[in-house]
Amino acid sequence: MGATKKVVLAYSGGLDTSVAIRWLQEEFQAEVYAVTLDLGQGKDVAEIQKKALSIGAKEALVFDVKEEFLNEYVLPALWAGAIYEKRYPLSTALSRPLIAKYLVKVAEEKGATMVAHGCTGKGNDQVRIEVAVASLNPDLKVIAPARVWGWTREEEIEYASAHGIPVPVTLERPYSIDQNIWGRSIECGVLEDPWVEPPEDVFAWTRNPLEAPDEPAYVEIGFEEGVPRLLKGQYYSLVNLVEELNRLGGEHGFGRIDHVENRLVGIKSREVYECPAALILLEAYRDLEQLILPREVTHFKPYLEERYAQLVYEGLWYSPLREALDAFMRSLARRITGTVRIKLYKGSMRVVGRKSEYSLYDFALATYDKGDLFDHKASEGFITIWGLPSRTQAVVLRRCRKKQGE
Ligand code: ARG
Repeated sequence: MGATKKVVLAYSGGLDTSVAIRWLQEEFQAEVYAVTLDLGQGKDVAEIQKKALSIGAKEALVFDVKEEFLNEYVLPALWAGAIYEKRYPLSTALSRPLIAKYLVKVAEEKGATMVAHGCTGKGNDQVRIEVAVASLNPDLKVIAPARVWGWTREEEIEYASAHGIPVPVTLERPYSIDQNIWGRSIECGVLEDPWVEPPEDVFAWTRNPLEAPDEPAYVEIGFEEGVPRLLKGQYYSLVNLVEELNRLGGEHGFGRIDHVENRLVGIKSREVYECPAALILLEAYRDLEQLILPREVTHFKPYLEERYAQLVYEGLWYSPLREALDAFMRSLARRITGTVRIKLYKGSMRVVGRKSEYSLYDFALATYDKGDLFDHKASEGFITIWGLPSRTQAVVLRRCRKKQGE
């Protein structure tokens, strides 16, 4: 009778998704296809694949998507200056639509009717993955085992032990961590008290600025049509460039973020992030835009940037609005070619120089020294016209006040 049910699970190798393999089998009598993406999270995906199979997955599929992630998700976000609530460069949020894309792809290839993920019931990630799956294939049913079983940590470990699922000895690690090449998110434990300073042990990518080198590091980043391609004059693949900036920033103690954040599900949560490369590139890009784009554009773009960040945060990646905003951002990115010089020093990053063949900066117009070509006299007429509304209003107000005083 009837074909075997199949479910495709986003598998990280952690306890929740490991338990989910067995739980899905028992609950739905289904074959479980484990999908693991290498997003640059620094885990051995071959080991994760083995683990999935040893727990009983029918198949364990691994995809290296670092390049795809950077090219198709991170770059558009860089062009859009996407930072949520002025702090968070959306590193976790940007990875979710890509995870959903692969769940759907594998489900369609394997003829599965269900997909599953390990997110809990109070975060943003469940929303992002499920809305993305629905946008890509509305027929798929999504299951969130951890949201369904509602176990305590002890009950989950009990289930794992009873089913021969390996429980990591380091389970006492008090933080919940998500990482990929664009950043590292840390929550839970002592961080849940927003008054408590993040202890050093939450950080893995960035040195304590106190222990950073005493000498600053100067780094030149070269952009071509919006894409960061050169570091210190050398061409890099995007993956290597971002990895190198994470390393350099981290070495100088730069990239830490401490943020009380408004989640989509209505709660505020305290989040700590390490995003050296993301913060460096966003700042460098913005600086170059400031040199190249006309005033009207630099004044208008931030409105769309904020909206874009919100959209990504709120799980609406696969939406007409995001695509339309991307077209806007891409058209501006085409002219963002040039070099930005940054200085990393003891926890800080500053842009200290920028140049571009498209630069609208004109020395002859800007200088106060010899060679000044700005027409100072023309300012007089300009001010008369520009100030006309203010002058008119002042005259009228003075007349009215006089009348009242009579
Ligand atoms: N608050 C961030 C976001 O919503 C990060 C969530 C990270 N998840 C985790 N397991 N630490 O994008």
